[in-house]
Amino acid sequence: MAGRIPQHFIDDLLSRIDIVDVVSSRIELKRAGNNHKACCPFHGEKTPSFTVSQNKQFYHCFGCGVNGSAIGFLMEYDGLHFVDAIETLAEMLGVEVPREQSGSKFNNPQAATDNRELFQLMETVAVHYVNQLKNSQHAVEYLTKRGLSGSTAKRFRIGYAPDGYDNLDKTFSAQRKALETTGMLAKNDRGNVYARFRDRIMFPIRDRRGRVIGFGGRVLEKQEPKYLNSPETLLFHKSKELYGLYESRRDAQDSGYALIVEGYMDVVALAEAGIGNAMATLGTSPNQHHCETLFRIVPRIVFCFDGDRAGREAAWRAAQAALPCLRDGRDAHFLFLPDGEDPDSLVANEGRQGFEKRLNETRVAIIDYLFEHVGRDIDTSELGGKARLAEQMTPLLMQMPEGIYRNICLQRLENIVGFPIDPAQMTSGSSKRTNAETLPTMRGNRSGAGMGTSNHRQENRRDREPQKLSIMRHTILLLLNHPELASHCSSEEFTISEHLQGAQLLVAMLETCKQHTYRNSAQVLEYFRDTQHEAVLQKLMLIDLMPDGSELEEAQAQEQFRHCLQQIHNKSIAGSVTQLPSSQRTGLLSVTRKKPVV
Ligand code: CTP
Ligand code: MN
Repeated sequence: MAGRIPQHFIDDLLSRIDIVDVVSSRIELKRAGNNHKACCPFHGEKTPSFTVSQNKQFYHCFGCGVNGSAIGFLMEYDGLHFVDAIETLAEMLGVEVPREQSGSKFNNPQAATDNRELFQLMETVAVHYVNQLKNSQHAVEYLTKRGLSGSTAKRFRIGYAPDGYDNLDKTFSAQRKALETTGMLAKNDRGNVYARFRDRIMFPIRDRRGRVIGFGGRVLEKQEPKYLNSPETLLFHKSKELYGLYESRRDAQDSGYALIVEGYMDVVALAEAGIGNAMATLGTSPNQHHCETLFRIVPRIVFCFDGDRAGREAAWRAAQAALPCLRDGRDAHFLFLPDGEDPDSLVANEGRQGFEKRLNETRVAIIDYLFEHVGRDIDTSELGGKARLAEQMTPLLMQMPEGIYRNICLQRLENIVGFPIDPAQMTSGSSKRTNAETLPTMRGNRSGAGMGTSNHRQENRRDREPQKLSIMRHTILLLLNHPELASHCSSEEFTISEHLQGAQLLVAMLETCKQHTYRNSAQVLEYFRDTQHEAVLQKLMLIDLMPDGSELEEAQAQEQFRHCLQQIHNKSIAGSVTQLPSSQRTGLLSVTRKKPVV
């Protein structure tokens, strides 16, 4: 297992990379004064409120509130984890990501291999299976029988694991340990190690960057289990991945939606029929993580389920997973298939046209589905029924993020029940942070107060209006915008009492910015990621120093900063003299030990 990525590497990356390059490689940016602008890629809008600041190396959307550094942007836009975002940036610069030797969080002696090597190994295993397919007439016949062309097999890199407990031994004799780590070799009770996948059609499961992280294997004859998946490993987490995400992503983006189906063969058969935007969960119902991942790529998800009981139950779970992700501009639909059919059998019978006709004519919007599902056994011609519907629907609707879509849905409920809904009286799930929502965001007031007429945008606007800042906050804000100011100040001149609110953060920032010679806000933010200071810094990041949004001149910033520190100094001295007995006159934090230069 690799150690942590050293902080200095992240600092260096953020000083060398330009967020404008990173963002503009993914969306089109237009210069607007000091900044760059675009329509926000994270919510639907017609007038650009997404801003990228080159000076701060920071992006922010005034519409939906998303914001962050180049790292944060990649996490949100590409749907990457922190480490993957760093690796993507490093790749852009052509540098390797170093790892600290010690400090691995996972003290697992078995896992001495770097993930990079594991990915490489999985890649060669996938190639191996593809080669084995060419040698197996039996397997090729099976795929042909299922209507698969060579080009679709190639698109999904479908392969074959030959029979035999030793089917990986010859090619991978030197990598047994790593094969075990990645779940390709299994161990029985007696400690014997053998190939997990034997005589199976192999579907490589790839992460969003196209790296092979696991496999699904299908038997060719009637045997059990029909499908076998890789176990949970360092690389593979079944409930987080989607089969076909990498292969179908482009088509999904082009068509504006992703089709979520249940099986490997559904994804593959749909692609074979010319419907290339399908992806499948891996034997689990779609969860919130899946939905968040998908909504970062497409504005709409169409869940495709069997019409049977199991399918209906899965649909109900999917609906609940999707609701918290339905910011304005996003939507989800359900397509229920006739009993006993799956997308694979349907395209086989009805072709692409038939399937698309079904999709267009019978799919149900999530909100219609919810009203239908919840209201099925409720008689709303009676007052009691109306109350029951309101009672059951309101908490569901309150799971949706605040916005126009939610308001419309609540309005619809009001129209049915004929009385105004007060969400405050119902259990609200809207303020709950979603699991997948790990990114820095500031989305205004999330309580239910905005119902009826949408004041969602106003809330956001209020957030960024110049606020009366305390002197401490103002100082921190200055430093956040101009980290280089730290190298101009020293302690002999300024004293900061730790009793002043925010003093700890200011001192930590002064020391950090100076020590690492930070030059932009993004470096500071990333340094404090996952610390208790993160939230405050994110909030401050959204406040403009100048009322008109222009940048403060370097000299002005220096002057203001000095002035602020002087005031804090005065307060610190006064406070310590007046509030504390002389014996306790401690807690005066020094800024640095250097001679004053300001
Ligand atoms: N599945 C699984 N383990 C099983 C059975 C199924 O993980 N033992 C998952 C697989 O992802 C599979 C999906 O559930 O693709 C759907 O399974 P099923 O409906 O049984 O198979 P089909 O997709 O219809 O497969 P096929 O058409 O190949 O028979
Ligand atoms: Mn099937």
